[in-house]
Amino acid sequence: MLKIEPNKNLTRLTTLQIGAPAEFFAVIKSREDLDEAIVWAKKNKKTIWILGGGSNVLISKKIVGLVLKNEIRGMAIKKEGATTAIVEAKSGESWIRFVNFTVEHNLSGLENLFLIYGTVGAAPVQNIGAYGVELKDVFYSLTAIDLKTGCERIFKPADCRFGYRDSIFKNKLKGRYFIYSVAVKLSKKPSLKLDYGSLREKLAEQGIKKPSLKDVVAAIAEIRNSKLPNPGTLPNAGSFFKNIETSLAIYKKLLKKYPGLPFWPVSAARVKIPAGWLIENAGFKGKKFGSVGMHDKQALILVNYGGASAKQAGALVKKVKAAVKKKFGLDLEEEVNII
Ligand code: EPU
Repeated sequence: MLKIEPNKNLTRLTTLQIGAPAEFFAVIKSREDLDEAIVWAKKNKKTIWILGGGSNVLISKKIVGLVLKNEIRGMAIKKEGATTAIVEAKSGESWIRFVNFTVEHNLSGLENLFLIYGTVGAAPVQNIGAYGVELKDVFYSLTAIDLKTGCERIFKPADCRFGYRDSIFKNKLKGRYFIYSVAVKLSKKPSLKLDYGSLREKLAEQGIKKPSLKDVVAAIAEIRNSKLPNPGTLPNAGSFFKNIETSLAIYKKLLKKYPGLPFWPVSAARVKIPAGWLIENAGFKGKKFGSVGMHDKQALILVNYGGASAKQAGALVKKVKAAVKKKFGLDLEEEVNII
């Protein structure tokens, strides 16, 4: 029997440790729990909200409806070919455990995405990415449940409309489906992506010329641990803003004023500018405003130094956006889901 709690505070269930109450709340551990929750929500005319690892949200006000904390777990190798394998995980599984599982089975493809907090179910919603790899590069399919009808639907790569930290589940289908399981297609032979600057530098620094799968995992772990705060000790939600895509013409104009402004080419006429650089150069790196601030090693990360409120975080977000706009004329867009 599903336990539905009224008026549950969600603060401790987010990695930023900022929250508000949910009108109703339940933990789901199985497909049966989910089905029961869907029936309950229909009967009581309540909207369903899904909470995974809480690693990419800023809950700023009471959530009206039924919040489901997804703890449906499990993972397995589904199919093996001569050179590839399909590996599937249930959506409430920890992403870090999933990557570990694939690496332990000597399967390559997810290693650059090691140590990203959150659940498997959130990965396709955000099309998570790091060190030159995005989920879409290895995504095979997902099974989702329609929260209105309880019917199952399979999504193949093209159905998901993946983009930079974006998918159909953030847009047209927002709130409509519960992602139940995610399958990726991995390689039995290491197919390593080593182009990302900091990864290349780390491997060179360690004197590793021909890295193994485990070398890459270790290098990624080192880079992340040196730059990104562990939410267990310093609450945060990862990158708070997205990197900015703009035209080459605007970039060139800015470069004249700010020599050294970094960029990555996106196409012949478009580039991406790291938001962390802009925030740092607008003077926010390591700056504290009461209980909140932008991290001292990665200016893109908003951190809660203890007991911060959504109001304080919101005020800092506004300040950072206004300063970047004023100095560079560029608009920062939140990567974190603000509710
Ligand atoms: N930079 C600065 N100052 C800073 C931070 C960054 O100048 O304080 C500049 C540097 O030029 C650096 C460049 O930004 O070379 C890129 O920095 P970094 O490699 O740390 O990556 P990022 O672009 O800031 C993105 C993702 C991260 C992901 C890393 C590594 C987004 C929004 N963020 O950050 O993802 O781990 O690349 O691939 O795309 C997340 O989404 O939560 C996340 C942590």
